[in-house]
Amino acid sequence: MRRSITTRLVLMFAVAALAAFLLIGAALQSVLSRELERHQYEELNTTLVSLRYWIQAIGTPERWARVRARMDALSPEDGSVRFWVLSDDPRFQYGKGLAEIDGLTREADGRGSDILLPGQERPFRTLSAHIPPLDDRPAVRLIVGRNSEPYTRTRETFLTALLALGLGAVLVVAISGYWIARVGLRPLERLSDEAQALRPKTLSQRLQTTALPVELSALTEAFNGALARLEQAYAQLEAFNADVAHELRTPLANLIGGTQVALSRSRSAPELEEMLASNLEDLERLRSIVNDMLFLARADRGELATGRVRTPIADEVRKTIEFFEFVLDDTGMQVRIEGDMALQAQLETALFRRAMSNLLQNAIEHSEAGAVLTVALQEEGAATWIRVSNPGDPIAPAHLPLLFDRFYRVDAARRGQGEHHGHGLGLAIVKAVAAMHGGQVGATSADGVNTFGFSVASGAEVSED
Ligand SMILES: Nc1ncnc2c1ncn2[C@@H]1O[C@H](COP(=O)(O)OP(=O)(O)OP(=O)(O)O)[C@@H](O)[C@H]1O
Ligand SMILES: [Mg+2]
Repeated sequence: MRRSITTRLVLMFAVAALAAFLLIGAALQSVLSRELERHQYEELNTTLVSLRYWIQAIGTPERWARVRARMDALSPEDGSVRFWVLSDDPRFQYGKGLAEIDGLTREADGRGSDILLPGQERPFRTLSAHIPPLDDRPAVRLIVGRNSEPYTRTRETFLTALLALGLGAVLVVAISGYWIARVGLRPLERLSDEAQALRPKTLSQRLQTTALPVELSALTEAFNGALARLEQAYAQLEAFNADVAHELRTPLANLIGGTQVALSRSRSAPELEEMLASNLEDLERLRSIVNDMLFLARADRGELATGRVRTPIADEVRKTIEFFEFVLDDTGMQVRIEGDMALQAQLETALFRRAMSNLLQNAIEHSEAGAVLTVALQEEGAATWIRVSNPGDPIAPAHLPLLFDRFYRVDAARRGQGEHHGHGLGLAIVKAVAAMHGGQVGATSADGVNTFGFSVASGAEVSED
């Protein structure tokens, strides 16, 4: 069951208050009973002492009559205080049911004991004293008894009052707990209102962290961090959409323009053929953009290269270079392979060659005729790096990490031999291929040499994360 924080707090407050009250109540109750008992015995003792003092001085049956009168006077109507004098001589006796009292209090001499008199609900509390003989009077035993009923009633009243008070207090604590929780949780309500007002258009807004309790500000900051990342991703996506549209627009405009011109008057078959051939070029360009985009989307989803087999890397590099033989011959360029020729890795060769040829193509495009390009193979930790270098104009460090982003181009740097006008996805694909092989990408530009490289995990397995 989902319970609100308020309910939980109120419950906890109530339980805590109840526990505190029970504790205090139990303590008070025990102090009170002890005090009441002490008081009772003190009263009994006072009466006992004064009567004993009296009886001590009396030794004849004549004067005993005065003792009786005195005791009668001291016994209240309701029978809550009683006296007994036990004696072997019936002339010096006092009280009702003496035989019974004798039996009940025989053991408890001096110190009081509770006895239950016949016909009484509550026990009597008693104290007794021995009084030595005098003249005609034998030794007697004096017992003073007091009904414990009033004390018990006091205790019960106290207990009832305590319980009522306790319940009241728990109620008050629960109500104030509810109020405290509501006030305390108000910042949370405000936050949730703010969060609810967030829309894609207002992603740049942040939840306010000022005036928030410490406990919430950490959460809010984390949330704001997530918002920032979301905003960035959203902005990238928007920019990406714009880029895609932009990239597709040129070939489409070419296609439409060319077709319109061709249709503007009647054409001969060779003319139409030429136009179709030119259209085909644009269509192929469109197809290649769309294919690249689909491939990147696959990599984005976190797909790994399937069908990887252990392959000597140098061989794959050499085979890729063979595809560029004509361009290299035309431009008088050379490609050298350096480093560890024996390196092997788990590769999906088609993907590897695609990345490799993107790098080579870029290197050729950005080099002067006759340049010497290098492909360096190197094992670094758990990864094998493949780096393609070419002499070229330095690239500003600010651009370097961005070049692997989709559609990112340093247009000023576009020069060199290639007639190829890329659409800015080549390095993004290299990055995707690296990711699919558990690797990374990197670029440097130093001493007139520009190097673009990627790595693949050397191990047998590429982990899923
Ligand atoms: N070897 C290099 N020397 C200098 N700049 C480079 C080099 N390789 C890439 N770049 C820069 O990086 C940018 C992005 O390269 P990328 O391969 O992604 O796109 P492209 O070559 O413009 O188009 P595509 O490869 O999709 O046909 C290039 O436009 C260029 O500015
Ligand atoms: Mg390229």
